Amino acid sequence: MRGAQFLAGVLCYAVVLAGGQTPVPAVSPTPPVESYAADCGGNYSELSGEILSPNWPRDYGNNASCNYAITAPSSHFLTLSVNAFSTADEGDTLTIIDPGAVIGRYSGHMLGAGDVINSTGHQLYLRFSSDSTNGTGGFNITYRAQPIPGDCPDPGTPDYASRVGAALVPGSTVQYTCDAGYTLYGNSSLTCQAGSWDSPIPTCRAACGGNITNATAGVILSPGYPSWYAANLSCTWTLSAPEGTSLRLTFTNFTLEDGNDFLYVYDADRPDDQPERTLTGSDVPASWLSRTNNVILRLVTNADSGREGFSLIYESIPETFCRNPGPILHGNSTAAEALYSAGQSVTYRCEAGYQLLGNATLTCQQGSQRSWDAAPPVCYAPCGGNLTAANATIASPTPDHENTGIRDCYWQIHVDDSYRVLITFNSFQLRESDAYLAIFDGGDLAAAPLANFSSTAPAVADVYSTGSQVLLHFHHGPTDSYGNFSITYFEAKKKHCPDPGTVENGRRSGDDFSIRSSVIYTCNGGYQLEGRKTIICKPGNPPTWDYPTPRCELVKDCEDPGTPENGQRDSDDFSVGSSVSYTCQDGYRLAGEATLTCTRSPGSRPKWDHQMPACEEVPIQLCHDPAFLHYGSYDPKTHHYRVGSVVTFSCDPGYVLKGSKNLTCLMGNSRVSTPRWSNAYPTCEKSQVKASSVSSGNNTALGVGLFVVLALLGVGGVVAYKWRRKILELLQKNKTSNVPPSFDNPMYEVPANNTDDGPSVEVTAEA
Ligand SMILES: *[C@@H]1O[C@H](CO)[C@@H](O)[C@H](O)[C@H]1NC(C)=O
Ligand SMILES: *[C@@H]1O[C@H](CO)[C@@H](O)[C@H](O)[C@H]1NC(C)=O
Ligand SMILES: *[C@@H]1O[C@H](CO)[C@@H](O)[C@H](O)[C@H]1NC(C)=O
Ligand SMILES: *[C@@H]1O[C@H](CO)[C@@H](O)[C@H](O)[C@H]1NC(C)=O
Ligand SMILES: *[C@@H]1O[C@H](CO)[C@@H](O)[C@H](O)[C@H]1NC(C)=O
Ligand SMILES: *[C@@H]1O[C@H](CO)[C@@H](O)[C@H](O)[C@H]1NC(C)=O
Ligand SMILES: *[C@@H]1O[C@H](CO)[C@@H](O)[C@H](O)[C@H]1NC(C)=O
Ligand SMILES: *[C@@H]1O[C@H](CO)[C@@H](O)[C@H](O)[C@H]1NC(C)=O
Ligand SMILES: *[C@@H]1O[C@H](CO)[C@@H](O)[C@H](O)[C@H]1NC(C)=O
Ligand SMILES: *[C@@H]1O[C@H](CO)[C@@H](O)[C@H](O)[C@H]1NC(C)=O
Ligand SMILES: *[C@@H]1O[C@H](CO)[C@@H](O)[C@H](O)[C@H]1NC(C)=O
Ligand SMILES: *[C@@H]1O[C@H](CO)[C@@H](O)[C@H](O)[C@H]1NC(C)=O
Repeated sequence: MRGAQFLAGVLCYAVVLAGGQTPVPAVSPTPPVESYAADCGGNYSELSGEILSPNWPRDYGNNASCNYAITAPSSHFLTLSVNAFSTADEGDTLTIIDPGAVIGRYSGHMLGAGDVINSTGHQLYLRFSSDSTNGTGGFNITYRAQPIPGDCPDPGTPDYASRVGAALVPGSTVQYTCDAGYTLYGNSSLTCQAGSWDSPIPTCRAACGGNITNATAGVILSPGYPSWYAANLSCTWTLSAPEGTSLRLTFTNFTLEDGNDFLYVYDADRPDDQPERTLTGSDVPASWLSRTNNVILRLVTNADSGREGFSLIYESIPETFCRNPGPILHGNSTAAEALYSAGQSVTYRCEAGYQLLGNATLTCQQGSQRSWDAAPPVCYAPCGGNLTAANATIASPTPDHENTGIRDCYWQIHVDDSYRVLITFNSFQLRESDAYLAIFDGGDLAAAPLANFSSTAPAVADVYSTGSQVLLHFHHGPTDSYGNFSITYFEAKKKHCPDPGTVENGRRSGDDFSIRSSVIYTCNGGYQLEGRKTIICKPGNPPTWDYPTPRCELVKDCEDPGTPENGQRDSDDFSVGSSVSYTCQDGYRLAGEATLTCTRSPGSRPKWDHQMPACEEVPIQLCHDPAFLHYGSYDPKTHHYRVGSVVTFSCDPGYVLKGSKNLTCLMGNSRVSTPRWSNAYPTCEKSQVKASSVSSGNNTALGVGLFVVLALLGVGGVVAYKWRRKILELLQKNKTSNVPPSFDNPMYEVPANNTDDGPSVEVTAEA
């Protein structure tokens, strides 16, 4: 195999040498060893075909010299696409020739699958030669004839633009740039491709607004300028110049519909979003210098047709001073000058109720480009807080633009405990119907509500707490425009009840007269409290004590000493110095002092000098029954006359009583315990005889005398009875025959066994 190739190559080479001229075509001079092996060179005029190395797909062999001529129609060019390429060494070379110029010489692996080579004209020559050694490898190259593309048309230059690039041949580009103030719509760069541009030609128009970063110098035009601007426009231009510079606007043309169309000029540091300039009409405005490096322009036109519009030039100017940093909302600054030099400062302060966020003091920085070292601070009112100062202002919370929604804010006010809180309203304008401000009389929501203010119930009057704590609760719905309020609170003297005073002959404990506190009264010794001991200050307007101040009254009386069972007291007068006496009922006797006296020692209550006595039962002992009375009777007739019983005697008509009318049964004395009547029994005597009263006394005396004699004689009871009758009869016959004997002597009626107790007091005393 290898040998056959080599041989064919040698033969071919010989032919070439013999011809002494350019390699001749591909008709193999020798019969090919293998009929499919490729020819060496040839003329190619088809629109496409394959250029193959000799013997392809086998090795090309040594000493090859093959010429390939490719010819396409003159309106075409040729493209070679490498499918495979490999030669053994540098001596085996494929040369590609564009008529008039060698495109390249290739050996080894200098070409690879996918490589493309274009001709400029419609012809190409390829020459392959191999040396005497190492004739291995080959190539497979596809060619295609393609029409030559034409030039592009001149794209021209749109209005308000400039162009770079004039060539129109395929592959050439042109680039457009709009004039200052105009915006390019479309592609700024066009490329000629096969006779046409790859994009439409752009246009340059003055746009409605734009963001201009690095605004060092430029032009701003009204939309469509120099054509008239349109109706119903709202165009915004933002200009950001480098830090440390400000922007100068110089108007060159200006015509707006006077009073209907406006150009607003804003500087970035205005906190209230108000424009610095509001421009309209057809007078060209004076140039303007911003304070900051950020400026906004806004053109607003109405529904009427427009006007010519405006053109202006902006340029950034390095600052050589710091400008007044301007006011802030809800705050004040010391900035009074328009311009500040390096090192100077301004200080901001927030209104009461607002807190400062940021740097309070700004200093104008050193350097050629002047600016403040910090942005102006922000004053904001917080949503809630704990306040312990003696007085402070609370402002309605600054709307939170990041967290819109329902909001509840709580403020706890706690002043010194010896004060209460007075809340005054500086302003109160709630607009939202959901919004309200509730005030509680204490430290938490459980405290009693004091007030609830809203859009329909606006705060009109001051609010006082009772104690030292107040809770404020502000609620609003999901809106920023709920309205506003401003409150100042103060320490206020606590609300008091009037001084309830002291009490004579007593004292008060407690000096706190504030609401819900109490004072206690006590009386000195010897005095007693009239009224309430403890009185409480109750809330009200004004607060009042729940009971009047009590009094201490001198105690004049001893307490009721009482009455013992089965006894009596003779008096209800318990006043100091008076006495009460006790007696006991029949059959009872006093144990203790019978008489109590009410006495007072200084500084103490009156007291009885003794304890109340008791009545204790005595053994039953009776006085003798008077038994009977001649010509009269007695009452009561109980037959049981206890100690203390009183018997009243009365005489029949025509008789008068002699002696005591009433007899009382008395306790016996210590030696003889038998009770006795207080007096001798009386007698009833005829009343006609006036003088008889004297003789009756004599007769009685006589009788008694006889009786005593008899008693002394020691006569017994029965004898004595008989004798008594006789004596009485004798007396009546001899002395006063018409006077009946007054009564029977009880002595004689006592049974014999009672003899010891029988004798009366008089008798015993006589004995
Ligand atoms: C190839 O073309 C050249 C000139 O165009 C011609 O002289 C030559 O005879 C051609 N060879 C063949 C094999 O057609
Ligand atoms: C031919 O091939 C041999 C080895 O096969 C190599 O040593 C020699 O350098 C090659 N000759 C050239 C001219 O590349
Ligand atoms: C060759 O021409 C073709 C067709 O026009 C083109 O696609 C290709 O880019 C060209 N290649 C080179 C290398 O010029
Ligand atoms: C040449 O290469 C192309 C692409 O790989 C292939 O399609 C073609 O059959 C090859 N020709 C020959 C004769 O091998
Ligand atoms: C300017 O930028 C802002 C945001 O940075 C953007 O919302 C606005 O659409 C831009 N305006 C224009 C005209 O590009
Ligand atoms: C801003 O513009 C100036 C001049 O046009 C230029 O020198 C500078 O590099 C630009 N700066 C930025 C950040 O683009
Ligand atoms: C703008 O004003 C200049 C002179 O300031 C003038 O020459 C020019 O015509 C004006 N342009 C338009 C469109 O009015
Ligand atoms: C702010 O300053 C003005 C003028 O100096 C003064 O009248 C006003 O009370 C100040 N306000 C506050 C909140 O300090
Ligand atoms: C205040 O300014 C100083 C520089 O002057 C800066 O370091 C500091 O961070 C600023 N503080 C605030 C809260 O902006
Ligand atoms: C106020 O104090 C209470 C406790 O007394 C605390 O729970 C609450 O978070 C505080 N509020 C603020 C805003 O500091
Ligand atoms: C507010 O409180 C301060 C002390 O914190 C006091 O000096 C000042 O007098 C008070 N003002 C009023 C109006 O009570
Ligand atoms: C005797 O007793 C009666 C009733 O007890 C009384 O009314 C009367 O006054 C008494 N008489 C004398 C003299 O004590």
